[in-house]
Amino acid sequence: MKKFMGVAAVGALLIALAGCAGGSAGGGDEAGGGGDELVVGFSQVGAESGWRTANTISIQDAFTDAGYELKFSDAQGKQENQIKAIRSFIQQQVDVIAFSPVVESGWDTVLKEAKDAGIPVVLTDRSVDSEDDSLYESFLGSDFIAEGEKAGEWVATEFADADKVTIVELQGTTGAAPANDRAEGLRNVIGDDAKFEIVASQTGDFTRAGGKQVMEAFLKSNPDIDLVYAHNDDMGLGAIEAIEAAGMTPGTDIKIVTVDAVKDGMTALSEGKINLIVECSPLLGPQLVEIAEKVAAGEEVEKRIVTEETTFTQEEATAALPDRQY
Ligand code: AHR
Repeated sequence: MKKFMGVAAVGALLIALAGCAGGSAGGGDEAGGGGDELVVGFSQVGAESGWRTANTISIQDAFTDAGYELKFSDAQGKQENQIKAIRSFIQQQVDVIAFSPVVESGWDTVLKEAKDAGIPVVLTDRSVDSEDDSLYESFLGSDFIAEGEKAGEWVATEFADADKVTIVELQGTTGAAPANDRAEGLRNVIGDDAKFEIVASQTGDFTRAGGKQVMEAFLKSNPDIDLVYAHNDDMGLGAIEAIEAAGMTPGTDIKIVTVDAVKDGMTALSEGKINLIVECSPLLGPQLVEIAEKVAAGEEVEKRIVTEETTFTQEEATAALPDRQY
């Protein structure tokens, strides 16, 4: 960080001198002249879903475009790998550490190590449940509870005239913030109405294969399912395969609501196989670069930056698909 701040100071001085000499301001960059001097260590969850792939590309492209060095580490879905990666970033004395925590709990020790080493940490996509929020500078990502509530609002409207609604839930990775919060969000809206019964809820680990396997089991033990609530598109796409294999029509015989809005999910939605998708944007790279620049230069940043998101109906998905980037 000192190195980055030092270069930033020299850059600022050069810009000031250019200004005195009547030259244009074209020579400096937004990081204060840092160029490729900013080094960021980033620990990614893994490659479990279409969303995750799009998120990785967004982050890698944004750092490449800015001319900064990104030390990228794939945790393959394991918290211990993320802890190892963070310790390695500390050893390498990177300017900033960013990561998307696989699960919410168990981060205090390693975050204290980063703090003691004077390396600012930025949480991206997912948060940690630490009571000490001085252990990180900022958390950039979605409001997962709001996403679950949006799904719940659609369910409440869609089944407004029904007497009884049998729901199965495909949960994300156990202990992950989006799994905990999307479960909570749905229940915040429909939880008090006895006509909604969540008869089965199990993790499909945010993967298509997991969603398919769990849905096959759900279909065997629950003959009258009205709705699948999948915590992401990939698990919903797996559920579609299981429903079709069982001789039923997804989106008609069994309604499906998912979260993410990646291209494959949006395609299934436009084909009527999914009924609603709650958007969760993976395009966090450019904002992460801005935050990294600021914290490396010792500037204040907002503690919580919430990503703006919407929902997609079948018609809206058809309209949005031609321009969908991911
Ligand atoms: O943390 C974001 C979630 O993680 C996405 O909704 C899911 O697809 C991914 O695996």
